[in-house]
Amino acid sequence: MRIHLVMAARPDFMKVAPLWHELCLHAWAEPVLVHTGQHYDPSLSDALLTDLGLPRPEHMLGIGSGTHAEQTGGVMIAYERVLSADRPDLTVVVGDVNSSVACALAAAKVLVPVAHLEAGLRSGDRTMPDEINRVVTDALADLCWTPSANADENLAREGIPPERIRRVGNIMIDSLEMLRPRIEQAGTVGRFALEGREFGVATLHRPSNVDAPEALEAVLKALGRVAGRMPLVFPVHPRTRKNARAFGLEKLLSAPGLVVSEPLPYVAFMNLVLSARFAVTDSGGLQEETTYLGVPCLTLRRNTERPITVELGTNRLVTADTLVEALDENLAAGARVHASIPLWDGKTAARIAESLRGGPPGGA
Ligand code: UD1
Repeated sequence: MRIHLVMAARPDFMKVAPLWHELCLHAWAEPVLVHTGQHYDPSLSDALLTDLGLPRPEHMLGIGSGTHAEQTGGVMIAYERVLSADRPDLTVVVGDVNSSVACALAAAKVLVPVAHLEAGLRSGDRTMPDEINRVVTDALADLCWTPSANADENLAREGIPPERIRRVGNIMIDSLEMLRPRIEQAGTVGRFALEGREFGVATLHRPSNVDAPEALEAVLKALGRVAGRMPLVFPVHPRTRKNARAFGLEKLLSAPGLVVSEPLPYVAFMNLVLSARFAVTDSGGLQEETTYLGVPCLTLRRNTERPITVELGTNRLVTADTLVEALDENLAAGARVHASIPLWDGKTAARIAESLRGGPPGGA
C-alpha cells in the first residue's frame, strides 16, 4: 500500500513522524513523505525533520506563504500533479492547516482514498481558519482517526457514519514518548541558564492574538507582566515576530524577565516544557503535551478544540486581562496534576497501522 503522508507546518512533523516510523516496520506499507512547504523557515521545518529522524521528503511542493486562497489553491494544484505522477493507494493528512484541506480535496477529486489523523476536533469557532479546515477535511475523509471520545461525538453530530470513524488516540504523545530520552538530555534549560530555577515557557502565533496591533500589544504586555513573576522563555514564531516589527511593538519583547529566542526545534523546546513551572500558549499541541506531563497551561484563547485538556488536564482558558491573576492562582495551588487520558499512551501509530492492515478504506 503506497501511502502519502502529507506535512506542511511545524505541528504536522510531530504527527507524521511516529506514523512514518511505524509504517516502515510493515512489509505491506510503503510510506512516502510529501512536504507542501507551507512552513519553510529552517527553524520551523528542517530542524524538525532531523529531530524526528525523518528523511528528506520524496515530494517537496515548495508552496510557501500567501493568503488562505493562494496557499490552499497552490497546494491543490501542486499536489494534483504529484497524485497523477505517483498515484498512491491512500493520502494521509494530519491536523488542521491549509495544506491538509488542500491535499484532502485534491486526492478526493481523483478518487484516491483519504485518511485524516487528528480528526473530529472542534472549537465551534468558525472565525478560526483552522476550524474551517477541520470541518472540510473530516467531511472529505474516508477514514477519520480520532484522539478522544468527544471527537467521535463531534463527527457523529455532523453526520459522519460510524464506519468512517476510528478512535486511535493522540499521536503527539507518540512523538513525545518516542523522543523522551533525547528530550530529557537536550540541555535547553541549562542553555538559558535556568537550571534549578522556576520558569515559564510561552508560545504565540494565532491570528486572533497576533494579527491586530491592539491584540498583539495586549498579549505581549501580559507576557511582560508574567515575566515579572519569574523568567519566561518565549521562542517567537515568525508570524508573531513579523507582526511585532510591523506594528512597532518589538520593544515589548525586551521586558525584564522575558527570555526571547528564535523558534526552537521540537526536542530542545520539549526539554524546557518538561521542567517548566507553567506554560502560556495559544497552540493546540502544547495544550495536549502539558496535560500529559501535568504542567499547568494557560491558554490565551476564548475556546479550545481540545476541551478534554480543560476537563481532565491542567489547561485553563484565559485572556490578556486574566492571565496574570490565573497564573498567581496556579502558582499558589502548587503541585502538578497528572491526567490519564485513554489512548494517550504512545501507541497511536501502532493502532493506525492496525486499522490499515486490511487495505485502504473504500470510497465514501
Ligand atoms: C499555520 C497553521 C496553524 C498552525 C500553525 C503552526 C493554517 C491556516 N495555519 O499557522 O493552524 O497552528 O501553522 O505554526 O494553516 N512564515 C515564515 N516562515 C515560515 C512560515 C511562515 O516567516 O516558515 C510567516 C510568513 O510571513 C507567513 C506567516 O508566517 O505569512 C504565517 O504563516 P502561515 O503558514 O500562513 O500560518 P501560521 O501562522 O504558521
